Amino acid sequence: MKYANENRLIVHLNNEPIYDIVLTESFEGLSQELLALGCENKKLCIVSDSNVAPIYLEEIKSLISGCCRQVTAYVIPAGEENKNLDTVRGVYEHLIQNKYDRKDYLIALGGGVVGDLCGFTAATYLRGIGFIQIPTTLLSQVDSSIGGKTGVDFDSYKNMVGAFHMPKLVYTNVSVLKTLPFEQFSNGMGEVIKHGLIRDKEYYEWILNNKEKIIVRDPEICRKLVYGSNLIKREVVEIDPTEQNERATLNFGHTLGHAVEKLMNLSILHGHCVALGALAALRICKNRGLVSAEQVECYRKTMEFFKMPMNVSGLEKHEVIAATKNDKKMEAGVIKFILLDEIGHAYIDKTVSEEEMEQALSAIMV
Ligand code: GLY
Repeated sequence: MKYANENRLIVHLNNEPIYDIVLTESFEGLSQELLALGCENKKLCIVSDSNVAPIYLEEIKSLISGCCRQVTAYVIPAGEENKNLDTVRGVYEHLIQNKYDRKDYLIALGGGVVGDLCGFTAATYLRGIGFIQIPTTLLSQVDSSIGGKTGVDFDSYKNMVGAFHMPKLVYTNVSVLKTLPFEQFSNGMGEVIKHGLIRDKEYYEWILNNKEKIIVRDPEICRKLVYGSNLIKREVVEIDPTEQNERATLNFGHTLGHAVEKLMNLSILHGHCVALGALAALRICKNRGLVSAEQVECYRKTMEFFKMPMNVSGLEKHEVIAATKNDKKMEAGVIKFILLDEIGHAYIDKTVSEEEMEQALSAIMV
């Protein structure tokens, strides 16, 4: 069985091992991992948010206080609206007041907002210090904690300011998924299913065959689910860490999904927007004869099964299409649309017309 009980994946760059992704069902092994990274002489600043800190901060603090020089914590208000440079400024102030130096580390304890913001702070404080990801949502465990993309939003532009900065460690405790609000679990499933669609038909079919166990968040199944997704994400970021080409396939569902996310003022979760964008993109693939109507319907039913929003209302197709043109994934004014030439294989297509997008949007707009 491919999605076996593996508990460690090593991410390489240019064939050099750069960091480990540790997959566990508790936080117990964290101090051991920190000692292996030489943290006993470092100060560690845990950055978390107002949702996650009340649940896990004290546990993590007490687990790691014996294996480093000092631990401090900085808690940011939860929510995408706080993923900005003002919040980063608060973290910088905390680091300066507490005399953090270049050898010290930040620890991101939370979901994608905390991971991206903490990573960006680490990338820029003193021209770059180390950081560790402890992702606590499905979306961050399978996607945002891996691959070194860090950043914050700027005005209404998502992830407009950022840097590539690799973590020193990703420590993933899948048991936290059990208590994650279902909406957040479903949000992460948008990215998980996307991973199968773009790169691994076997994994996609495994998800479909195990969906009953996945939805009740059976720990063993969750571990296999996260492992399978991590394998795909690792493969892509190793091939193309800075998104010159291959990494762009991870943006399947993003061209229309991001446009919807922006126009709905972030009221639909990111993974759900990606899933909606993927459904629309699959419609284009079907219209081009690349996938069958049955395959699109099977994906739609899977979205439904995981209780994802199935459509968007209150928007006009032309405004969604106009919003795709502001996407930072454009290249020389041309949209790099991601399509599938079959289930399990994505490619970059620069020929998708506005008419095709308009037809595709009928799949998700009422
Ligand atoms: N979330 C897409 C990427 O990491 O490239």
